[in-house]
Amino acid sequence: MENQIPTHVSIIMDGNGRWARERGLERVKGHVEGVKSVRACAEEAVRQGVKYLSLFAFSEENWGRPREEVDALMQLMMSSIRDEVATLMDNGVRFVVLGNRERLSATLRTAIAALEKRTEKNGAMTLIVFLSYSGKWDIFQAARKMAAELARDPSKELTINDFDQYLVTAGYPDPDLIIRTSGEQRISNYLLWQGAYSEFLFVEQLWPDFREESFRRALEEYAKRDRRYGKVK
Ligand code: FPP
Repeated sequence: MENQIPTHVSIIMDGNGRWARERGLERVKGHVEGVKSVRACAEEAVRQGVKYLSLFAFSEENWGRPREEVDALMQLMMSSIRDEVATLMDNGVRFVVLGNRERLSATLRTAIAALEKRTEKNGAMTLIVFLSYSGKWDIFQAARKMAAELARDPSKELTINDFDQYLVTAGYPDPDLIIRTSGEQRISNYLLWQGAYSEFLFVEQLWPDFREESFRRALEEYAKRDRRYGKVK
């Protein structure tokens, strides 16, 4: 059967805070546990032959969370970058961050750039972490870049398909499957353009509970979907 394994799986990791609250723990403990799910899903994705796994780790809107939580999430990102180099190299995973990098601290930006460089030749899978990202922001920055280019060269002919090259996801395939955990059923300003024809899977599990087995089940569910892209098959 065609398309059994999706090329690009994307996950809106939701429910860390609820996971922690249910156990009487601080929210940040939920994020720490969530990192274990990141590792589990990334390893399973490589095993299953998924070529791109992307994760919505921090939205532009998330900057509005309490200062301590934002700091803790950024800290967690730093420590994950430090601790996961070996795992990424062992699994042949390329690491890429997409989003509004200007808002990140200089220290984090430097660490990200170093890890991207270190893993750039890894070919088993690309792990894309969306950080300080939102779909509307992406479309807006793309429109600005395109407008600047048209101002330089007004005769440039562009079609709707050319717009992709201005998005931060330029060069990466659109997600085949977008999974959202924790029972919420919304897109939350994520891949608005790129997700136009994605299959969606909403699962009840909270992100820290979503491990290898859940990832495998999600791929099984995807394999049953009939993708038509607005056409008749
Ligand atoms: C959503 O749960 C989760 C986040 C906003 C952060 C996700 C980040 C991680 C799992 C850690 C870092 C990631 C990487 C790639 C190393 P929530 O806080 O919105 O949960 P709630 O809806 O239950 O409050």
